[in-house]
Amino acid sequence: MDNFLKDVLKGLQSSPKYLQSKYFYDKKGDELFQKIMASGEYYLTNCEMEIFTTQIAEIADAIVDGQRQLDVIEFGAGDATKSSHLLKELLKRKAIGAYFPIDISNHIIELLNRALPPMLPGLNIHGLNGEYFSMLSKANEISNNRKLVLFLGANIGNFKFNEMPQFCNRLHNELSAGDLVLIGFDLKKHPRKIRNAYDDAQGFTREFNLNLLTRINRELNADFDIEQFDHYASYDPDNGACKSYLVSLAKQDVCIGKNHLIYFEKDETIFMEISQKYSIEEINKTALESGFTPVAHFFDGNKYFTDVVWRVEK
Ligand code: TRP
Repeated sequence: MDNFLKDVLKGLQSSPKYLQSKYFYDKKGDELFQKIMASGEYYLTNCEMEIFTTQIAEIADAIVDGQRQLDVIEFGAGDATKSSHLLKELLKRKAIGAYFPIDISNHIIELLNRALPPMLPGLNIHGLNGEYFSMLSKANEISNNRKLVLFLGANIGNFKFNEMPQFCNRLHNELSAGDLVLIGFDLKKHPRKIRNAYDDAQGFTREFNLNLLTRINRELNADFDIEQFDHYASYDPDNGACKSYLVSLAKQDVCIGKNHLIYFEKDETIFMEISQKYSIEEINKTALESGFTPVAHFFDGNKYFTDVVWRVEK
């Protein structure tokens, strides 16, 4: 059975129901995600962009170490808008060996391999299409330089509960003493500000979540009635968890493929995604517990977001 079908059935046959957010990003999902990022309520992208445009010299100072060149590896590179500022600064300082953007989308890797060389002349680019850790070990085989791993965009917040420390431990294990990571975290702030970022007034986030049902209809031959589902976002300031759900507006059956019937109660929810928010104390604690030393923190003017630099200790 196809993985997408397997994952969808597993999620919808569980109690409570859930779907995996990695399936959000089909063509329409990519477009909607761009619209979310451009919406007034979604502050994260602008905050991180502000950090990368106004403090790039300070970031480079925290990263560059005398004579030794760095290879930069980026998890989930996307269009590399933010990281290209750093790459440019490192090139200027003759501090970068190679750039290894890693992305699950082959389309994105091809685009980067084509678009970056004219923008960043002299940069040695080696795009890797696949999962983060298998591609990191590929990069490790090719690279002999000290490494910097970039993981931007608050994507670290999308890990479920105990997966985040596991990810940090694994990252530490795969790197060598003295290597660095630069990670973007969204910070705790007014709960309404956070909730609105995941429930914009124009309804892009709603459409983005509902689009996964449309994708299931199309690719898995299902019959979700999209009108019978709503989007709901919650934020719990006690634990920093911002969660998105779809809500069934009626008692209904949904058919997936020929053989699978899923029953929904009225008001039953499907958990879609978590976007965890952190305090600086929590971030530092995670660094230390997973074998890193916090080296530097950078904030936007409002202190909504932080990019942190950690060094691997062994
Ligand atoms: N990682 C970002 C965040 O948590 C982007 C993101 C992932 C996102 N999935 C999302 C944004 C769903 C809005 C809705 O905010």
